[in-house]
Amino acid sequence: MKKLNVGLVGAGFMGKAHVVAYSNMPKLFWPAPAMPVLKTICDIVPEIAEDSRERFGFEKCCTDWREIVNDPEIDVVSVCTPNNAHAPIAIAALEAGKHVICEKPIASTLADAKAMADAAAKAAEKGIISMNAYQYRRVPAIVLAKKFIDEGSLGEILNVRCTYLQSWSADPDSPLSWRFQKDIAGAGTLGDIASHVIDIAQYLAGDIDEVVSMMKTYITERPVQEGGVDLLGTVKLGADAPRKAVDVDDEDSFLVKFKSGASGSIEATRNAWGRNNFITVELHGTLGSVYFNYERLNELQVCWAKDPDDRRGFKTIYTGPAHFYGDATWNIPGMNIGYGELKAIEMFDFISAIVNGQQPSTRFEVGYRVERVCAAVAKSAESRQWEKVED
Ligand SMILES: NC(=O)c1ccc[n+]([C@@H]2O[C@H](COP(=O)([O-])OP(=O)(O)OC[C@H]3O[C@@H](n4cnc5c(N)ncnc54)[C@H](O)[C@@H]3O)[C@@H](O)[C@H]2O)c1
Repeated sequence: MKKLNVGLVGAGFMGKAHVVAYSNMPKLFWPAPAMPVLKTICDIVPEIAEDSRERFGFEKCCTDWREIVNDPEIDVVSVCTPNNAHAPIAIAALEAGKHVICEKPIASTLADAKAMADAAAKAAEKGIISMNAYQYRRVPAIVLAKKFIDEGSLGEILNVRCTYLQSWSADPDSPLSWRFQKDIAGAGTLGDIASHVIDIAQYLAGDIDEVVSMMKTYITERPVQEGGVDLLGTVKLGADAPRKAVDVDDEDSFLVKFKSGASGSIEATRNAWGRNNFITVELHGTLGSVYFNYERLNELQVCWAKDPDDRRGFKTIYTGPAHFYGDATWNIPGMNIGYGELKAIEMFDFISAIVNGQQPSTRFEVGYRVERVCAAVAKSAESRQWEKVED
C-alpha cells in the first residue's frame, strides 16, 4: 500500500487532533487510500516538540518548520499553528511540492489568505492538494442535509440560520492567549468559530453575497498568557496577573443574503455560559426544514411540509451505517461518532484527494472565500451598512 510521510507543525490542541486522525483513519477506513507515516513533528517550544515526538510516535522532532518543508522525504504537511503562521508554512510547503492540510481560519489577514489560495492554485496544476480543516461540513448529519437539499427534497431554500456558541472565554480571568491578539489570530470569535458556520452555510446554501453585522468585545482586558499551547480558559491566572488589552471581537451577529436569494442569520460568541460547542444549523425550504445541533452530532431533525397537518413536525434521524461515512465507523446506529472520528473522516477525504488527484471541497480557494465573508462582516461592523462579499 502507498505510504505518505507526514510532517506536522504546531503540537497543541489541533496537532493532537491531526495525529488522532492520521492514526485512526486507516483503522476506520480499510483499505485506506494510503498509509500515513508519522515522520517529523515541529513545535516552536522545544519541550513541546520533544514531548509530542515521544507521545505521538513521530520518528523525529524539530523547532523550525523549514526542516519539514525542506525534507525531500516529507509528502504531506499538517499546519496546526496559530493563524499568522499558516501562510508562510503552507505556501513554502506547497512550493516544495508537499500536499498541505491547514487548520482554519485559512490565515490571519485577507492578503495572506489570497496568497495561499494563489499558491494552492499554482500547485494544483502539478497535482498538489490543498485543504482547509473545516471538518464540520463533514459531519454525516450535515452531509445528509446537503443530500436532501441537492435532491430537491427541501424545495427552494428560503432561510439559513446558524449559531456557534461557546463559553470557554466567558470568565474575565481566563487567559489572554494568542486567540485574543489581532496580530496573531487576525480576529477573535469571527475567525475562530464564526468561520466554521460560514463554511457550513455556504456548503449548504451557496455563496453569501452580502452581510450586515454587529461585533462586540465585552471583556476588554485579560491576564496575559505568554506563548505555548492556548489554555482555552481552563486556567484562571488570577487578579494579580499582568493584564493586557484585548483587540479582537468576543461576539458577532450578522444577517446574510445568499447569491441564491435565500437570507439568514449567523451568531457566534465564546462568552455564552452553558453553551459548549453549540453549533446549530437550521434551514427552511419551501418543502421542509432541517435542524442540526453539534452537541447532538449524530442526529438530524427533519420536517416535511407534505406530512398531514395533524402529524407534521420535526422527526429525528440518527445517522449510522446507512449514512455518509457510516460503513467506516460503527455498524449499529446510535453507537455514535465524536470529534475524533470526525477528524479521521476529514483525513480520509484529504488522503483520498491526494491519491485520486482531485482537490477536496475545502481546498484553499474555499477557505479564502470564508475569509472574504469574514472581511465583509468586519467592514460592515465599522460602516454599519450592508457590505458586499468580494468575488
Ligand atoms: N478545526 C477546528 O475545529 C479547530 C479547533 C481548534 C483550533 N483550530 C485551529 O488550529 C490552529 C491551532 O490552534 P490550537 O488550538 O491547536 O492552538 P494551540 O495553542 O493549542 O497550539 C498551537 C501550537 O503551535 C505552536 N507554535 C506556535 N507558533 C509556531 C511556529 N511558528 N512553528 C511551530 N510551532 C508553533 C505552539 O507552541 C503550540 O504548541 C489555529 O489555526 C486554530 O484556529 C481549529
